[in-house]
Amino acid sequence: MKRFLSLALALTVALTGLDTSQAAPHNTKNRDFVEVASDGKGFTLNGEPYTIRGANYWQGMNLGADDCSGGDRDRLDKEMELLVKMGINNLRVMASSEGPDDQKQRMRPSLMYAPGEYNEGVFQGLDYLLDAMDRHGLTAVMTLNNYWQWSGGFAQYVAWIDKNQTAYPLPEGDQNWDTFTKYSARFYNDTEIYEEAQGMWKKHIETVITRRNTINGKIYRDDPVIMSWQLANEPQEGPDAWFEETSTFIKELAPKHLVSAGIEAKLDQFDFNRAHTPKNIDYTTCHLWVENWEIYDPSNKSSIVDAQIYADDYVHSRAQWATELNKPIIMEEFGMARDAWIKPDDEVFKYSPDTPTAHKDQYYKGIFDNIVSLAKKRQFSGSNFWAYAGLGRSTDYPNQYGMVWVADPPHEKRGWYSVYNTDTTVKVIEEYNSQLKALEEE
Ligand SMILES: *[C@@H]1O[C@H](CO)[C@@H](O)[C@H](O)[C@H]1NC(C)=O
Ligand SMILES: *[C@@H]1O[C@H](CO)[C@@H](O)[C@H](O)[C@H]1NC(C)=O
Ligand SMILES: *[C@@H]1O[C@H](CO)[C@@H](O)[C@H](O)[C@H]1NC(C)=O
Repeated sequence: MKRFLSLALALTVALTGLDTSQAAPHNTKNRDFVEVASDGKGFTLNGEPYTIRGANYWQGMNLGADDCSGGDRDRLDKEMELLVKMGINNLRVMASSEGPDDQKQRMRPSLMYAPGEYNEGVFQGLDYLLDAMDRHGLTAVMTLNNYWQWSGGFAQYVAWIDKNQTAYPLPEGDQNWDTFTKYSARFYNDTEIYEEAQGMWKKHIETVITRRNTINGKIYRDDPVIMSWQLANEPQEGPDAWFEETSTFIKELAPKHLVSAGIEAKLDQFDFNRAHTPKNIDYTTCHLWVENWEIYDPSNKSSIVDAQIYADDYVHSRAQWATELNKPIIMEEFGMARDAWIKPDDEVFKYSPDTPTAHKDQYYKGIFDNIVSLAKKRQFSGSNFWAYAGLGRSTDYPNQYGMVWVADPPHEKRGWYSVYNTDTTVKVIEEYNSQLKALEEE
């Protein structure tokens, strides 16, 4: 869920279903909504401290669709069990994806294939996912848009308006990475299309927030399984007014839920504050991508040292920024490739599930140790690692673009950042989650 810094890397790398007679509410345990603690330091649930022991699971909506709509409910159910076993209590998922299904760089089938036109099978996949999460006691961060192309996102809205369907980075589109990012930014920076683009998007926001879940009959806006609505994945340098306006719009529709911006916080404190200052942005986020930002080289055994130094500083500085705003912070994306340094010239090796993850495990543990020590002082509220692939496997590493549901979006090489159920990383995550859980119970 991240951007590439260089072109070189970019290259390698119907509201139907309202028939309530079918909707039999589950007899789930009564639970409250996740809230921000009254002193602004962290979250609470049912009056108790709540830490985010999270994973990214963007593909959940598509996996939750039935067979006819390209899903795999059996796999999703099994993965829910595995996630709970790991101590996970929160999943960051997509609650949006846009555009026609003939674009290779995107997750597909998409939820909204044309403005206001929905693939009901995919929407029911989201229903199924939320219901499964409810049964397993998890909470959801619902991502409503994307600066990047892998779910359609900003560029698709812009393309719908100016009829330019070629807004894709190379090699599939006709544009380089810089051209693409400027194109995407028009979604909120081009005054000529601003109203129309935002209007189209707000209709989607309203549709999803007011939807009735076809599996359990709950209206999304009243469902405590949803912790937060997130404006977008990694909106880059958005205008202040956009964060303000959209967070207010969402809060009015879903007053019981939290709202978040979804920025990486990779730039400076000014950028961090711009996204997080509006009063309806309830908590702050950061993402950390050491390979994409050219701090870590997975083919170079010694570069892990730089990666860890960078990560230590990053976690602490962002925690400090959040403290100054008096809002909780979640590290809601970070990942690392497998041990490519063992065979630096072997491209397939880097992405294969059989390749060890010693660096990744060490790196995850370093981040987790930092978060736990800050969480003890109530200066950090948890994380979502990137990303859970669970039982997903490909027979074709590292090829991109096929819709194989591992945890790497289709524009990226399969297996790059996926965490499989069989990885040693799972133990590292389990151990960290148990430390956070212990803090909740103190
Ligand atoms: C599509 O957008 C790109 C980048 O803004 C531009 O170069 C190209 O001319 C546009 N094509 C059309 C058909 O408008
Ligand atoms: C959007 O415009 C603002 C100025 O209003 C600018 O600071 C920002 O860099 C622009 N964002 C992008 C992604 O170009
Ligand atoms: C590997 O990483 C180390 C530490 O950053 C660096 O000093 C060294 O130059 C790198 N080696 C290569 C071949 O890039």
